[in-house]
Amino acid sequence: MDIVIILGAPGSGKGTQSAMIMQDYDLKPLVVGNILREAIANETEVGLFAKSYMDKGDLVPDEVIIGLIGEALISGEFSGGRGVLLDGFPRNTVQATAFDAMLHTKLSTSLSCIIALDTPEELLMERMVGRLYCTECGATYHTTYKKPKQGNTCDLDGSNLIQRDDDKLEVITKRLEVYKQQTMVLTSYYSSVPCYRNIPATGTPEEVYKSIRQALDSCLS
Ligand code: AP5
Repeated sequence: MDIVIILGAPGSGKGTQSAMIMQDYDLKPLVVGNILREAIANETEVGLFAKSYMDKGDLVPDEVIIGLIGEALISGEFSGGRGVLLDGFPRNTVQATAFDAMLHTKLSTSLSCIIALDTPEELLMERMVGRLYCTECGATYHTTYKKPKQGNTCDLDGSNLIQRDDDKLEVITKRLEVYKQQTMVLTSYYSSVPCYRNIPATGTPEEVYKSIRQALDSCLS
């Protein structure tokens, strides 16, 4: 099973690129943020617990996230295709170390490709402030860069588009701080791994994706 990780700051374009990767490579997406938002919408125990952290821009505690990833990967839900595309995990060295152990002992596999999106901070702000989100299917749009075809509705299912609760300016600022304090270190954690690829993510989504394709094609067999 191929395991691909997409790393990057909030708003760097992980979700946008994951949607394109899924279409061209037979990888099933495991999007932690979407799983948590769905749990919040369904008012599950995990959702209610996670909401208090997400609304403040903090990371949800490691044990919850590691448990969730372990359950998903071991359940067999992701078998059958080429592998898994992880978006939003790991986010700190505790999660990365636990994941290394999980891959080795429980899944008998190793990382196939690590894509690290490199985006300047001023672009991150602009991308998040203008983001629109479909509560039904999780598709994202942007008020400038990716306008929906009709008003404020999703092109895919016609549902209403909203701003994410954590895309308010004060929460964005906190998420970027948390990224710098806890997640950015993962670029050095993984940089010595042969399948690590740093991808400049300042161009259009299609331009960024072209570099990602080259990275994936050089890593996946
Ligand atoms: P999550 O949902 O994963 O949020 P994030 O990492 O902050 O990333 P975003 O979804 O904000 O951005 P993205 O990189 O996917 O960008 P997108 O493609 O949408 O996590 C939310 C929260 O859940 C966390 O804060 C935390 O509380 C919790 N959580 C999640 N994982 C966790 C974990 N492992 N441990 C603990 N807690 C966890 O693009 C953004 C916008 O820009 C869009 O509007 C898009 O259209 C536009 N855009 C994208 N690319 C381009 C481009 N190249 N040019 C122009 N516009 C672009």
